[in-house]
This record gives sequence, C-alpha cells and structure tokens, in this order.
Amino acid sequence: MHTSILLFRNFRYLKISVAILAVSIIAYAIHDPLGKPNGGTWLGYTLGGLAAFLIVWLAWFGVRKRQYGVGKLLLEDWASAHVYLGLSLLVIATLHSGFQFGINIHTLAYALMVLVIGSGAFGLYAYMRYPRLRSVKRGEGSLGDVWELVAGMSRDCYEIARDLPDEVYGLVEAADKKTRIGGSMWRQLSGTNPNCASTNALDQVRDLAEGYSGREADAARRLVTVLARKVELLTRIRKDIQYKALMDIWLYFHIPLSVALLGALAIHIISVFLYW
Ligand code: HEM
Ligand code: HEM
Repeated sequence: MHTSILLFRNFRYLKISVAILAVSIIAYAIHDPLGKPNGGTWLGYTLGGLAAFLIVWLAWFGVRKRQYGVGKLLLEDWASAHVYLGLSLLVIATLHSGFQFGINIHTLAYALMVLVIGSGAFGLYAYMRYPRLRSVKRGEGSLGDVWELVAGMSRDCYEIARDLPDEVYGLVEAADKKTRIGGSMWRQLSGTNPNCASTNALDQVRDLAEGYSGREADAARRLVTVLARKVELLTRIRKDIQYKALMDIWLYFHIPLSVALLGALAIHIISVFLYW
C-alpha cells in the first residue's frame, strides 16, 4: 500500500467508479417504476446484483492479497480498485434500496456495509498518514537505531550522575531500569505513559538542581539536558507505537465487519427471494 494507490495508473479505478456511478444515477433518474423506486424493480435487481458482486469481490481481496504473483493484475491494482469501487458502493446500494430504510435485515446489511466502508476509509487514512511507520513495520526502518539512541542517552546520564549525590544517581538508575515502552493495548493506543520513570527523574533532578552550586550545578544542568532529550525521544517512540497500534487495530474491525456483512447480505438475498 502506498499513497500512490489513489493515483494508480493515472486514476484508472477512480474513472471506472465514476463511470459506473454516472450510469447508475442516470438510470435511476430516468427509471419510472410503477410504485416507489425499490430493490424489487428491474433496476433495483440490477443495482442490487452489482452491489452484491462488488462486495464479494472486495472481500475476495483478503484472499487475493495472500497469493502473490497470481493473475495479471498487480496488488496495487487490487488495492486501488478496492478503495474506489468500495466507496462507490455507498451510492450503488443506496439507489438499489430506493432510499427505503427500516428496522429489518435489509437495512442491517446496508448499515454493516457503511461500517465496513467507514473502517476502510480510516485504514486508508492511517496507511497514508504514517508511511514512515509502515517502513519500520516492514523491518526496513531503524527502530533498532532508535533503541541504540535511548541506550546511549542512558549511558551518558550514568556518566554525568557519577559526580552527583546518590539521590540523583538513584533517579538515573530508575530512569534506566524502570522506563517502560509499549505494554497493554490500551497503553499503546493512549500513546503516553503517565508513570514514566524517565519523566519522573527529569522532574526531580530539575528540582534538586536548584539547590546545587559550582561543579555539581553544572553537572546537574547537563544531566537535565540529556534527560530532557531522552524524554522527548521516548515521547516520540510512544507516539509511533500509538500509530502502529491504530494501524493494527482497524483491520480487527474491517475484516469481521466484512464477514458479518456477507452473512447479512446472504440472508437479505435469500429472504427477498423467499418472501417477495
Ligand atoms: C443480488 C443482490 C441483491 C438482491 C437480489 C436484492 C434484492 C432486493 C429486493 C427485492 C428488495 C426489495 C424488498 C422490499 O421492497 O421489500 C431490496 C431492498 C433493499 N436492499 Fe437489496 N438486494 C441485493 C443486494 C443488496 C445489497 C448489496 C444491499 C446493501 C448492502 C442491499 C440493501 C437493501 C436495502 C437497504 C433495501 C431496502 C429495504 C426496505 O425496503 O426496507 N441489497 N433488495
Ligand atoms: C463493502 C466494502 C468492503 C469490503 C467487503 C472490504 C473488505 C476487505 C478485506 C477482506 C480486506 C483484506 C484484509 C486482509 O485480509 O488483510 C480489506 C483490506 C483493506 N481495505 Fe477493504 N473492504 C471494503 C471497502 C473498503 C473501502 C471503501 C476502503 C477505503 C476507503 C477500504 C480499505 C481497505 C484497506 C486500506 C485495506 C488494507 C490493504 C492492505 O492491508 O494492504 N476497504 N478490505
């Protein structure tokens, strides 16, 4: 997935979607059914069939994604078409229903479809917004380097704290040993850690430094500078982890909702053929 899937092949899939939408809307406008427009007219069946076909095809993307090198289309074709044709469903399915919604299985299928599309839009946004993270996720990036940087800062803190009172050394030690990154899903999603040992150490060393003078004051100032940089880096890492957690979590909505949609759709279609 790249930002470019939206522009892929010079917007080919956007153009295809717009063409399908134009034909659907014109057909709906000139269609003059006996009663109110609804899913049971010839146009209703056509648009419903088209929407159902698209939904099954979009869901097939999950399978297709895992079969690299099969077929003529690139994965980017699938992704680009997935996004544009997925969005076009909002219009196609709405025209199919003739704007007749109620508390029934048909409208449940419709609502699930809207949720799948909404979660898809969120996922797409996340993918495009955090490209750097994507490369880190693929192992090309430098999460390792960032850890090395944190470890280096901890070493610098120890070095400086050797000339300072035990109290400060203890804080530096706690900042090194007790600083936690990641944790539970909620902690990751929050993107912060209110009990961060490094932030704690920074605040306390800053307070203590006010009582020092001479060489100790100099050392404490340097320590505060390094600790502040470390806290800044930790804050950035936690933000990155938050974005990664967001990117992981949306698929937990998109896929199960897709499955629920396929189920509701099957019941919708079977029930209209049984009762209509
Ligand atoms: C092969 C595919 C489909 C067929 C044959 C089909 C058939 C029908 C029929 C016959 C009706 C009229 C029912 C009535 O007036 O009581 C209807 C209504 C409706 N359909 Fe479909 N449909 C299909 C696909 C879809 C899809 C993909 C969606 C959306 C996810 C959908 C959502 C609705 C909604 C919301 C209504 C309006 C229900 C109401 O009148 O309260 N249908 N459909
Ligand atoms: C009813 C419509 C849709 C269905 C049934 C559907 C279904 C799916 C499925 C089954 C996957 C594969 C997930 C996996 O196995 O990893 C997927 C991926 C995805 N979908 Fe959808 N989707 C729909 C609409 C949309 C829309 C409208 C968007 C964006 C606006 C979207 C964005 C995405 C993205 C970004 C991925 C991830 C691709 C990747 O991980 O490489 N989807 N979708």
